Amino acid sequence: MLKIVVLISGSGSNLQAIIDAISNGLLKAEIRGVLSNRADAYGLERARQMQIPVATIAHTDFADREYFDAAMMQVIDDWAPDVVVLAGFMRILTRTFVTHYQGRLLNIHPSLLPKYKGLHTHRRALEAGDSEHGCSVHFVTAELDGGPVIAQAVVPVHENDTEALLTERVHSREHQLYPQVLVWLAEGRLQWQAGGAFFDNAPLHKPQRLPDLPN
Ligand code: GAR
Repeated sequence: MLKIVVLISGSGSNLQAIIDAISNGLLKAEIRGVLSNRADAYGLERARQMQIPVATIAHTDFADREYFDAAMMQVIDDWAPDVVVLAGFMRILTRTFVTHYQGRLLNIHPSLLPKYKGLHTHRRALEAGDSEHGCSVHFVTAELDGGPVIAQAVVPVHENDTEALLTERVHSREHQLYPQVLVWLAEGRLQWQAGGAFFDNAPLHKPQRLPDLPN
């Protein structure tokens, strides 16, 4: 049973997708706890409804990132996870934190990395006139949105798309992508070895791609 801790800052729809994958038997895992940096994050409510332990640590209560991250590490380590899943967690993490969880820290990012690290990814894809956009799940390293990419899902960008439409299209693919990556991890198909990602015992040179949906 894969033991998961999920970190959120907001709505928690990716958390919900993971909860659903566990509930319907697809993902053999247990969510040991959900941690938010915001007390009003709706994802906390989603966790409470499933009797999953929750904690809030407000980043605003700490003088700097090192103290904030140290407080988070204490709570997370008490839950003893195999993997820490960043699901819409909107704080930059310290090197100390990232190193502590190296190889067992995952993030989902709303772009086809290495494109559009950082914020406003959907707007930037539209402004660039891209014909494709999507989302990525990657191992977290000290470089922001820069760790080895495990898997991606691609969506088309339509003519006359709006940021809202594109955001929604990517979001629904995120809800397939994150549970799939966690299934691979639970099955032992995805591993972190010698400082890099391995898939089916071979180094992962390029991201797995989820099958495209019909347009
Ligand atoms: C998701 O789109 C996720 O990719 C993004 O925040 C959203 C959270 O949605 N994460 C980042 O931008 C991280 N840099 P959710 O709270 O409904 O899961």
